[in-house]
Amino acid sequence: MMEDFEIRDDDVFIVTYPKSGTIWTQQILSLIYFDGHRNSTENIETMDRVPFFEYNIHNLDYVNMPSPRIFASHLPYYLVPKGLKNKQTKILYIYRNPKDVLISFYHFSNWVSTLEATDTIEHYLEKFLDGKVVGSRWFDHIRGWYEHRHDFNIMFLSYEDMKKDLRGSVLKICSFLEKKLSEEDVDAVVRQATFQNMKSDPRANYGNIINKEIGARSNGYFLRKGTIGDWKHHLTVKQNERFDMIFKKNMKNFPL
Ligand code: PPS
Repeated sequence: MMEDFEIRDDDVFIVTYPKSGTIWTQQILSLIYFDGHRNSTENIETMDRVPFFEYNIHNLDYVNMPSPRIFASHLPYYLVPKGLKNKQTKILYIYRNPKDVLISFYHFSNWVSTLEATDTIEHYLEKFLDGKVVGSRWFDHIRGWYEHRHDFNIMFLSYEDMKKDLRGSVLKICSFLEKKLSEEDVDAVVRQATFQNMKSDPRANYGNIINKEIGARSNGYFLRKGTIGDWKHHLTVKQNERFDMIFKKNMKNFPL
């Protein structure tokens, strides 16, 4: 059914492996597309402006939503609507260092009650490498999308690039989406897409969604740390070496 979902040329998809910067990109695109968000004249949760394609948690009417519809998705390339191969609809693929993804995912899975909790990083590492997590194997997700990039109108951007140069990344995104914003509007997007700002904005930090709708096992934050290299505080030398070995084997000749 999802495969036959009717796609419009002006739809936009944000595609990510979980914990790679999805909510961040949802916020950025919402700010770029919706004046009422950028100028704070409307009070709507980011999740309702840029909903998840495969988890319609608020039962929005996707079919009749006005254009441009912007969706976020964790789907692998072979499960998305066939219409995305029209090569018009824009797809923004955001990726992140898989070691940071692993750590972020570990904390998230232990926090959110609908996900399976894991006692140690060692055990989580096993699950992650085996693809026994939402999104399956990280390696397959990114490789699949990259190797089939010519079937789609897709741009790849990394979490790390966004973190190092948010303004530059917003401009790159605008250029891909063919959205022309004034300097002041770009400033407004950047200001409202920083980690600190999003963390304290209930429309953007999903605190309500997790705590009130989905359920949490403990106090936690969707916007946990938002840094590059947090894995260094968690992985042992041995775990890191093991990860590197598997990474090299799986990502041979991979340019990103
Ligand atoms: S999900 O569940 O797949 O939608 O999660 P996702 O949004 O992809 O990833 C969550 C991580 O992204 C971090 N994040 C940010 N980092 C920097 N700046 C901003 N503005 C930002 N917004 C979200 C978030 O903190 C999670 O990473 P960790 O490492 O756990 O902090």
